[in-house]
Amino acid sequence: MTRTTTASGTVAYEIVDRVAWLYFNRPDKRNCMSPTLNDDMNAVLDELEYRDDFGVLVLTGEGTAFSAGMDLKEYFRETEAKGLGATRAAQRSSYGWWRRLRWYQKPTIAMVNGWCFGGAYGPLFACDLAFAAEDAQFGLSEINWGILPGGGATKIIRELTNFRNAMYHAMMGENVDGKTAAEWGLVNEAVPADRLKERVNDVAQVLLQKNPVALKATKDAIRRVGEMTYDNAEDFLVRAQEAANSYDNEGRKEGIKQFIDEKSYKPGLGAYDL
Ligand code: ACO
Repeated sequence: MTRTTTASGTVAYEIVDRVAWLYFNRPDKRNCMSPTLNDDMNAVLDELEYRDDFGVLVLTGEGTAFSAGMDLKEYFRETEAKGLGATRAAQRSSYGWWRRLRWYQKPTIAMVNGWCFGGAYGPLFACDLAFAAEDAQFGLSEINWGILPGGGATKIIRELTNFRNAMYHAMMGENVDGKTAAEWGLVNEAVPADRLKERVNDVAQVLLQKNPVALKATKDAIRRVGEMTYDNAEDFLVRAQEAANSYDNEGRKEGIKQFIDEKSYKPGLGAYDL
């Protein structure tokens, strides 16, 4: 296993058993997101996306934090001092890699190992699945230092949990732990910290057994249909499946053959042999 670190040192990754483990790598700064880190995330996501030596990407943090949100010094104070152009450029870079991750070619999992604040809800939501340590801490701390939860965070909390939880979380600036985050729907599951990596790797290994074209179509469809009427969704899904068929003509036929002709598996109980 080789660990690759960007020149600035803010981002690192390693590929193990066809899983890419991508790290916020500023543990001494609790992995807060500086413009440099955001630029590096864009570059690394670009570099990795279409490589065929891995099939699932896990985003996590080095040290005690997943990410303590935006870097209040480098992302806010120093960038604002350079003027509106610099502020917009910093926003493009951060929002850019979160958007990139929302529509990533490979399935993505957020592994929330510790602190997760404010702007970190962007990449948290961008990942398709999310698992947290039971003692991880989640907070919209913006209100504690005098701003609203921007950069999508307000939208994300409304999207993931109910109105009352969202309002309390954003207005009170109190943290919730991993267990509550799971109850609220911010993550799929909370597990004891010492079992977190093993659980995430197990999920990744299951995803690696699924048809990758179908996975990409499925994850995009789940995001797209949220704002559609039923009829629009029905129509969109017909077209999405036909588009997937046009560049994966064999996969689903193999899936049907192994079930109907070879009787080697049951789709209700697991995936066909890729
Ligand atoms: N921006 C800039 N620097 C940060 C940030 C941040 N978001 N978070 C941590 N750091 C820096 C600290 O200033 C400190 O730097 P120093 O060593 O040069 O003094 C270093 O990281 C370590 O931080 P500590 O506070 O000493 O670490 P501790 O483990 O005691 O506390 C905690 C961790 C709770 C995460 C604390 O650092 C904190 O409250 N950070 C800010 C969290 C936050 O509100 N983020 C912004 C959310 S809003 C948004 O993202 C838009």
